[in-house]
Amino acid sequence: MVTKSEGDKNEWRQDSGKSKISKPKTLNEIESSGEIRIATPDLELNRVLGGGIVPGSLVLIGGEPGIGKSTLMLQIGLALQKAKVLYVSGEESEQQIKMRSERISFKQGTSANEQSSHENFYMLAETSTKNIFQAIESLEPNLIIIDSIQTLHSHMLESVAGSIGQVRQCAGELMKFAKETNTPVFLVGHITKDGMLAGPKVLEHMVDTVLQFEGDRHLAYRILRTTKNRFGSTSEIGIYEMLGTGLRQVSNPSEILISQKDGLLSGVTIGATIEGNRPLLIEIQSLVSAASYGTAQRTPTGFDQKRLNMLLAVLEKRCGFRVGTQDVFVNMAGGIYVEDPAIDLALCISIISSMQEIPVSDKICFAAEIGLGGELRAVNRIDQRISEAEKLGFKKIYISKFSQKSIDLTKTKIEVKSFGKLTEVFGDLFG
Ligand code: TYD
Ligand code: MG
Repeated sequence: MVTKSEGDKNEWRQDSGKSKISKPKTLNEIESSGEIRIATPDLELNRVLGGGIVPGSLVLIGGEPGIGKSTLMLQIGLALQKAKVLYVSGEESEQQIKMRSERISFKQGTSANEQSSHENFYMLAETSTKNIFQAIESLEPNLIIIDSIQTLHSHMLESVAGSIGQVRQCAGELMKFAKETNTPVFLVGHITKDGMLAGPKVLEHMVDTVLQFEGDRHLAYRILRTTKNRFGSTSEIGIYEMLGTGLRQVSNPSEILISQKDGLLSGVTIGATIEGNRPLLIEIQSLVSAASYGTAQRTPTGFDQKRLNMLLAVLEKRCGFRVGTQDVFVNMAGGIYVEDPAIDLALCISIISSMQEIPVSDKICFAAEIGLGGELRAVNRIDQRISEAEKLGFKKIYISKFSQKSIDLTKTKIEVKSFGKLTEVFGDLFG
């Protein structure tokens, strides 16, 4: 049973007797606080937050277990040397976190005065919000990291830690704390692939910002994506690489998403995509071989299965390629999941390149959506895609002729080839 008689029903300053009643104000009466943000040394994080950490904001960082949320938070906490950071862990012991921090700091190579540089970083292994707030009141930190929200419990509720009620209650208490003291709070939350474990979903509407940490646990690349942000755009992404010494910021993602190899391979093409606001050139590999058993297999990695089926149907029906009897395996480099339809053209070329065993030059890239009629459709921000390809030294980019209208071709050094139909691109490439 929940007892409501305790007044505020909140661990954070529940007994501050005087209940302050706010009165309505006009906009003119409200002081503008301007844009104060704490810029962290992590440029990827700053970018997804919209320019840095906003004081008093509550940020949820969700992701599957083992993806690297604790590592990311610890790294940021350690990097913010001037701010007093409290890292509350309900999952790992102080020793475990100490060991991890040594692993991470190793990279920075500041072995000499390392101890002193971490003197603003505090660690607390605790799960009761009452005890956490006690620690907070004596420490007065500038930033709080809770790892994870599912391990906290408030004695205001009797349900177990991790239940929806507890998660909401604890987050509510932390939100009240954040707003009253203007201290930013990061909440780590575990989410499983098929949606969620109890918790993070119910928090999404409470917090100011929701960051999603994604990637394939077995591959090195991680994407930090904003799915909600009261203080910035939701179309930003940050890219990291998980190394033995923690997460590395990847400032030029295209370079890592295109594999270094000698010689040309059939079935390999490069698509000019946009993820969030960033242009990314991504390598696609296809392997097409005669199906050895009854039904042909279609196995995409990093791409939607249904969309692959659709593109194969277009290749069969509109372009006359007998893909129906072939096994088709498709892979996006770097473990990235690509949703941008501009990848369609590169994918189709890659499939036919593998099937015909004709390699495509690695100085060519593609950016167009494919329609059901086998036509090339225009994609957004074509100029950004073209300039990224140019920057990375590509010689040619194939686009839809309907995209071409929106670009100024006199300024581009890269050769822009525009076509209306998929068959025309095949003709131009493969003769
Ligand atoms: P972790 O941050 O514990 O994930 P989460 O908090 O999201 O559950 O990261 C777990 C994985 O990261 C673990 O499998 C080991 C790996 N890792 C590295 O590869 N390098 C490192 O420097 C660290 C600290 C972890
Ligand atoms: Mg963790």
